Amino acid sequence: MARHTGPSNGAELRHPPGTFDVMPAESGAWQHVLATFARVVSGAGYGLILTPTFEDIGVFQRIGASTDVVRKEMYDFVDKGQRHVALRPEQTASVVRAFIQHRPTTPWKAWYAGSQFRFERQQAGRYREFHQVGVEAFGSADPDLDVEVMALAWEFYRALGITRMDLLVNSLGDSRCRPAYRRLLVEYLLAHQGDLCDEHRDRIEDNPLRILDCKRPGCRSVAEGAPRQVDHLCDECAAHFGRVVEGLAALSIPFTLQPTLVRGLDYYTRTTFEYAGTGLESAQNALGGGGRYDGLVAAMGGPDTPAVGFALGMERILLALDAEQVALAGGARLDAFVVDFAGGTVARDLTARLRVAGFRVDRSFDGRSPKAQFKAADRSGARLALVVGPDEAAAGTVGIKDLQAAAEQVTVGMEEIVPELSRRLG
Ligand code: HAM
Repeated sequence: MARHTGPSNGAELRHPPGTFDVMPAESGAWQHVLATFARVVSGAGYGLILTPTFEDIGVFQRIGASTDVVRKEMYDFVDKGQRHVALRPEQTASVVRAFIQHRPTTPWKAWYAGSQFRFERQQAGRYREFHQVGVEAFGSADPDLDVEVMALAWEFYRALGITRMDLLVNSLGDSRCRPAYRRLLVEYLLAHQGDLCDEHRDRIEDNPLRILDCKRPGCRSVAEGAPRQVDHLCDECAAHFGRVVEGLAALSIPFTLQPTLVRGLDYYTRTTFEYAGTGLESAQNALGGGGRYDGLVAAMGGPDTPAVGFALGMERILLALDAEQVALAGGARLDAFVVDFAGGTVARDLTARLRVAGFRVDRSFDGRSPKAQFKAADRSGARLALVVGPDEAAAGTVGIKDLQAAAEQVTVGMEEIVPELSRRLG
């Protein structure tokens, strides 16, 4: 029988391997990244979509039966209602499922942010629960839309202050030209079978394109001489790719044509791309990626609908910011901290009144000493302390002390406090 460990074994409780906590002291950067993403993509007509964290396993099996994400890494289980479900390993399939279910009018553009789950080997920048922000756009095969999504990610990274990155671009062709290319590639790989790594030597037919992406030395040198899909595109795919390349140049977005770029998911057609952080180690340098998936909606049972999108890893973004020593603004600072050592009634009422008026205000509880309350006020980072001792309470006044500047405490009447705070805080 499988051995299960859990809280009952008496060990200290910790987050599971491959996961992490973001404590309030560190979450300001996360808030900033999310707010920046929301601003950039909603400014281009993308609307927020929320989908369930788990779905029927069938939703994700369409990602590609031969991909590691589906074969080895899925958190799937049979729930108490005997349904076979899985925690989402990525969100494109969920958004496609929602698109098919709700049939919004196209073109339809959505963005998301949330946790994804893959049972991976834990290493720096690679987690079992990780976070992505992404966009998906449905209903247009126009190559200018590929350029739009690539430009949005680019603009987002730049807005955050990430400069050390490469946009890698490739075309994987479509159902017309890929089969012939695939046959050519299989022939070539079979001729070099002995040089491939152990994992791929006997799996050539399974997923020959993935071998081009293998990082092991044997596969790498075989990949270098392999036929390239970009040299074997049909006329339509070649024209599509030409327009994408032209669009990136027109928008002055630097990119590198990477004919061996193969994404880890099977649903892509035509344009694929990846943002590589050049300041990061190669195991974690994929900042984000995406591409076109014109066949996925139909493959999942929906109407024939072209689509394109990307997902960017939040943890990788934070690593890249760290590597470039970009310090992000923390979370919203407090405007004021109420220090009440006259019984607590003023703290209770004033804090509530100021919050309703739109100020960011906190206070102490438990009738703590003035010294302890001032210490808490300092630690909170608040701009002002609003001080109420027995004298102020009796006179109906409040002392205002600037905690960020050396200035005398001044006293104002209780009725003056809102205009006074507005004046001081701008
Ligand atoms: P993906 O390349 O599998 O694509 O993941 C996108 C990004 O998520 C990666 O570039 C990386 O930054 C981050 N990521 C992936 N796995 C992990 C992990 N275990 N730990 C930390 N970060 C990770 C997709 O997920 C597609 N859905 C993208 C897409 C959207 N294509 C079209 N639309």
